[in-house]
Amino acid sequence: MSKVRIGVIGAGSISELHLKAFANNPEVELAAICDLNEERAKTKAEAYGAGKVYTDYKQLLADPDIDAVSVCTWNDSHAAISIAALEAGKHVLCEKPLCKTVEEALQVEAVVGRSGKTLQIGYVRRYGTNVRVLKKFIDAGELGEIYYAKATCLRRLGNPGGWFSDIERSGGGPLIDLGVHIIDLCWYLMGKPKVKSISGNAYRKLGNRSHIQYLDYYKAADYNEHNTVEDLANALIRFENGASLLVDVSFTLQAKKDEFAVKLYGDKGGVEVEPELTIVTERHDTILNVTPQIDLLTFDFERGFQNEIDHFIACCQGREQTISPVQDGVEMMKMLCGIYESAQSGEEVRF
Ligand SMILES: NC(=O)c1ccc[n+]([C@@H]2O[C@H](COP(=O)([O-])OP(=O)(O)OC[C@H]3O[C@@H](n4cnc5c(N)ncnc54)[C@H](O)[C@@H]3O)[C@@H](O)[C@H]2O)c1
Repeated sequence: MSKVRIGVIGAGSISELHLKAFANNPEVELAAICDLNEERAKTKAEAYGAGKVYTDYKQLLADPDIDAVSVCTWNDSHAAISIAALEAGKHVLCEKPLCKTVEEALQVEAVVGRSGKTLQIGYVRRYGTNVRVLKKFIDAGELGEIYYAKATCLRRLGNPGGWFSDIERSGGGPLIDLGVHIIDLCWYLMGKPKVKSISGNAYRKLGNRSHIQYLDYYKAADYNEHNTVEDLANALIRFENGASLLVDVSFTLQAKKDEFAVKLYGDKGGVEVEPELTIVTERHDTILNVTPQIDLLTFDFERGFQNEIDHFIACCQGREQTISPVQDGVEMMKMLCGIYESAQSGEEVRF
């Protein structure tokens, strides 16, 4: 089998996990790195032995010696770079979120359709070991009909600043950055039901709280304190099959501690996916909390990215079909934009 020649576009924080995973895959040749910041691209290229460095992604895409790209840039360029890459005949692994609007998502979907290439969205949580194990139980009907899900990702202090908190480049705050992961995870495990209506709220009450001292948190590669995004969002999403999803996410909140939880409830069983996989069921008039005996009950970043990237390479080689296709980006943008729209209007949004 010939190697897949990879170009990584965007050499900031998350590119490190992509690069590590590509470097571990024997079917990959790391060919090129591109970043607006040339020094950053050069440093990564040297560390990972990529032969070429670009500062303009269009030049990287014009390179015939590249078969596939990872898009690890700010959210505002995901759609344009993905479309240009597909049109240049490259397979695409695009970081989440797919883009900033439903219109952009539909444009990317149309180009994927006529390109014949793979576009995989970086919904990395789907690739965690705990989720892979759980999916087998759900597909075998162990939870029955899943009719309710609840997802929380609350940071008490953690606005990453820079592009993340600049609405023009990010498209939003914790909802589009963190909410996308947990909404997708619930929606995927619920069997991807169609959205019926959304009621959402978004608050800008606390700013980025950069004055707080003695607590460390994740920051963008080019950190600054400019902040035009919400600090808390919540929503109730109703689906056509009658199921519902309740979600809340924050970059900062007057909370005692951070909270991360993803739970689903069916008529035969329930599950806590995070913070630790536990399956809840009933046998002989007794409720059982079942703990699968697996190496990792919670999401592990390095393993999740390795699984995601190994799957992407198998798709590029034609052996597999991606489990996180562009269509799932369109439905997700309907949900995220629907929440922002409902928050803005103060009304429920119906589809
Ligand atoms: N899957 C996950 O768990 C996860 C985690 C963090 C970030 N992300 C996503 O990854 C993407 C990047 O986030 P990050 O944390 O690495 O940000 P970052 O600020 O650390 O790095 C982004 C890099 O992209 C470069 N860049 C921006 N636009 C570019 C363009 N048009 N051409 C070339 N380079 C460009 C910037 O110069 C910067 O070096 C975002 O879309 C984010 O949502 C995903």
